Amino acid sequence: MRVGCLKEIKNHEYRVGLTPGAVREYVAHGHDVLIETGAGSGIGADDGAYIAAGAKIAATAGDVFSRSDMIVKVKEPQPQEWAQLREGQILYTYLHLAPDPEQTKGLLASGVTAVAYETVTDERGGLPLLAPMSEVAGRLAIQAGATALQKANGGRGILLGGVPGVLPAKVVVIGGGVVGVHAARMAAGLGADVTIIDRSLPRLRQLDELFAGRVNTVYSTIDALEHEVFAADLVIGAVLIPGAAAPKLVTREMLSGMQKGAVIVDVAIDQGGCFETSHATTHSDPTYEVDGIVHYCVANMPGAVPVTSTQALNNATLVHGLALADRGLRAIAEDRHLRNGLNVHRGRVTSAPVAGALGYEVATLEAILNVA
Ligand SMILES: NC(=O)c1ccc[n+]([C@@H]2O[C@H](COP(=O)([O-])OP(=O)(O)OC[C@H]3O[C@@H](n4cnc5c(N)ncnc54)[C@H](O)[C@@H]3O)[C@@H](O)[C@H]2O)c1
Repeated sequence: MRVGCLKEIKNHEYRVGLTPGAVREYVAHGHDVLIETGAGSGIGADDGAYIAAGAKIAATAGDVFSRSDMIVKVKEPQPQEWAQLREGQILYTYLHLAPDPEQTKGLLASGVTAVAYETVTDERGGLPLLAPMSEVAGRLAIQAGATALQKANGGRGILLGGVPGVLPAKVVVIGGGVVGVHAARMAAGLGADVTIIDRSLPRLRQLDELFAGRVNTVYSTIDALEHEVFAADLVIGAVLIPGAAAPKLVTREMLSGMQKGAVIVDVAIDQGGCFETSHATTHSDPTYEVDGIVHYCVANMPGAVPVTSTQALNNATLVHGLALADRGLRAIAEDRHLRNGLNVHRGRVTSAPVAGALGYEVATLEAILNVA
């Protein structure tokens, strides 16, 4: 198969679908790889690095679209991109179709077979192609929070780890999932006093074991939330209710009970945020203040560290990507986790949540296999 990889064109997107290391794997599987010139510039990988890995370089995105059997990307295709997709071609990337009727229409019209990273599942019921970005965002949340806590940046002027003779900062992480656990690990590593709040008792037990007493765990109630948030220097919002908007766990009224200059990092902002006063910000202007509380609400946090994020993403996407390149539609038919990733195929919506959200009829597996 010829596998193509494009330079991302979405604003401030520096990640790339294939690293040179991933290219070597596809080439070792006997595939041709075509990389758009400059595709890896955001991660410091020039065309020479891709050529050394066995790829050919395409001068334009149009070349990659017209000559590739499968296209590997990071972000959802933009209108000028989906117009160049075609039937019989596989698209493997993040799509997030449910809130995006225009893109869905575009993909349906193209006839492309589109596998969305974010809906591929694993044996443990997780979303393995989404998890690496949560890991990055969780760890980055503490760096962002520590910076915002500095006085010149509007914060209380407190060092997370304290120093000998001075107490450390109190960090409260709401939601002990992937983001939460990675945030807690970074905060604890810097010497902060860390508490994780979650509404799942089994999860709190796991976290208690994982951190061996180094991190406090608290069951999520209104009372407990208030108590912890009022005492916090830094609060990380990391809750997720799958398929739903994030619950507004911290209200505007509660801000008045917090310490002036405390910092909120609302990682859950991509699902609407779990603080009533959150609104999405960008890397170029990441924070704002409400009632003396600094808010950091960047919706695409991993974009700040494209080298790490690209590598982490490639680690997670490679196995299924190789399966798609090796076996095409058969890989989808034979692997229910990859099938969960299939969102659109030859003009039909094949994902029940996407069909439900946008009012399409969902195509059955039989229908997919018939045309395969
Ligand atoms: N801003 C970004 O750049 C960025 C990047 C990656 C992930 N995210 C977002 O971060 C959020 C968390 O992602 P995740 O991968 O950690 O999800 P996850 O499913 O692994 O964890 C969510 C946790 O929230 C807990 N929870 C749910 N309701 C709660 C409540 N009322 N009180 C306390 N805990 C509650 C769940 O029990 C679970 O442990 C998601 O919204 C995700 O989309 C944002």
